[in-house]
Amino acid sequence: MDDLFAALETSEPARQDLADGAVLLRRRAVPCESDLLEGVRLVSSQSPFRNMVTPGGFSMSVAMTNCGDAGWVTDRRGYRYQGNDPETDKSWPAMPSVFRQLAEEAAAEAGYNGFSPDACLINRYEPGARMSLHQDKDEKDFKNPIVSVSLGLAATFQFGGLKRTNPVAKYVLQHGDVVVWGGPSRLFYHGILTLKDGDHPRTGHVRYNLTFRRAF
Ligand code: SIN
Ligand code: FE2
Repeated sequence: MDDLFAALETSEPARQDLADGAVLLRRRAVPCESDLLEGVRLVSSQSPFRNMVTPGGFSMSVAMTNCGDAGWVTDRRGYRYQGNDPETDKSWPAMPSVFRQLAEEAAAEAGYNGFSPDACLINRYEPGARMSLHQDKDEKDFKNPIVSVSLGLAATFQFGGLKRTNPVAKYVLQHGDVVVWGGPSRLFYHGILTLKDGDHPRTGHVRYNLTFRRAF
């Protein structure tokens, strides 16, 4: 019932097409929120959140870790996926089954049957953190979609087009919202505006974002 009232209050549809191939599934992850947050705790106890450095030498405001067979990393040598966590020199933690199940189901609901992620990048935003417009293009095969799950504090997601200069639409992503983009929008520019301070009952002053990819 809470979800029904939330939807009525904001009159936001449960499902919204953002572009050709891109869908927002509002509150889709709420039923498994506790398992997802437990998974974030477990993964980050093995491979801790860290602020990685861009090839240009800037420290990212978003702290990151990964789970799965592949993890996204950046350092002075560039952006890439690798099977080992450079901080621990071990494999990334296994992808929790609840992560995989949600990603595969959400992808299928968005029209991408058979998605099988091998990487989950976990982003942790504290107030003031942001992610500037970028394309997800370090993956081997762009036929697979990206599945993005938001937990905790709300954030403004920008979704543009194939060129950085294309106009962007803005969507507030709330706790439990899932965005899937692929097909014609797979390489669309996207980003997150500076996170505002707040206090979320499940995460406190933090927003987490899980992005599932097929990297290798
Ligand atoms: C990303 O593009 O990797 C993160 C997007 C988000 O935090 O919602
Ligand atoms: Fe991205």
